Amino acid sequence: MSRPLVVDTVAGLRARIRDWRRDGLRVAMVPTMGALHEGHLSLVRIALERAERCIVSIFVNPTQFAPSEDLDKYPRQLARDLDQLALAGADLAYTPGVGEMYPAGFATKISVGGPSAGLESDFRPTFFEGVATVVAKLLLQASPDVAVFGEKDYQQLCVVRQLCRDLNLPVEIIGAPTIRDAHGLAMSSRNAYLGEAELQIARRLNVILRKAAAALAAGADQNGATGEASRALLAAGFHKIDYVEARESRTLTPWRRGHEGRLLAAAWLGKTRLIDNVDVSTS
Ligand code: PAJ
Repeated sequence: MSRPLVVDTVAGLRARIRDWRRDGLRVAMVPTMGALHEGHLSLVRIALERAERCIVSIFVNPTQFAPSEDLDKYPRQLARDLDQLALAGADLAYTPGVGEMYPAGFATKISVGGPSAGLESDFRPTFFEGVATVVAKLLLQASPDVAVFGEKDYQQLCVVRQLCRDLNLPVEIIGAPTIRDAHGLAMSSRNAYLGEAELQIARRLNVILRKAAAALAAGADQNGATGEASRALLAAGFHKIDYVEARESRTLTPWRRGHEGRLLAAAWLGKTRLIDNVDVSTS
């Protein structure tokens, strides 16, 4: 397996894509912040079912980190990432530096309404502005036919869909299922921060959420079920619960019984913040 081509400028990216387009090839993009794991690689595989060429961007985007967050210690491991991408069959790794993405004088922010309200935004108020701005830039730089995002970051996926719809970006957004370890823990680059004892606690998150989702589907009171889940998370060893909330799957407005729902949560284990979400199946 050969390593993907590595390009770190917009001009280089566009030149390569122009060649692919000339050959009539469909192009997919998978935006990431690197420290790649099986979750990211699953997106590459889905991308390659939809297109002949797959670009993976690796860019730890400073504008989506608040000053108090983990920008400096976010894991960076490009050589390993490129090996992983070779195995998954990605064609090009796009690795712009901060100066390429945000040159001196950069002064634009994209603010998406709708699904960005509440949940993550209550705790990370500038997060989706940073995400929407960088995702819009990446999609405009590469103009792929399709782009794949994980349901792991469910609210982010909804915000990206809204962004592309509202700005008429000519790209099809594909949502991909969450890849989990054998204990159901959603894979995340931030899991690398967890020690062995914390890992055991982290693995309770999906179990507790699935139980609450099943209770909701079976007719339990909404505040009762989410309150119970929060208490169970604290009892399991999480230190602080940012939210456990049921929302409508498509719009992320508050969930109404009989509609498709998603139960979303964010909780702290020491200095590590974990998020996860599960389907509330009412069928
Ligand atoms: P990052 O956290 O690196 O995630 C990149 C993509 O991988 C996102 O679409 C995310 O939802 C998906 N992903 C992460 N873990 C996953 C898992 N366990 N199963 C399936 N998919 C998973 O999300 C970002 O980067 C950034 O916000 C980005 C969109 C790149 C903008 O900077």
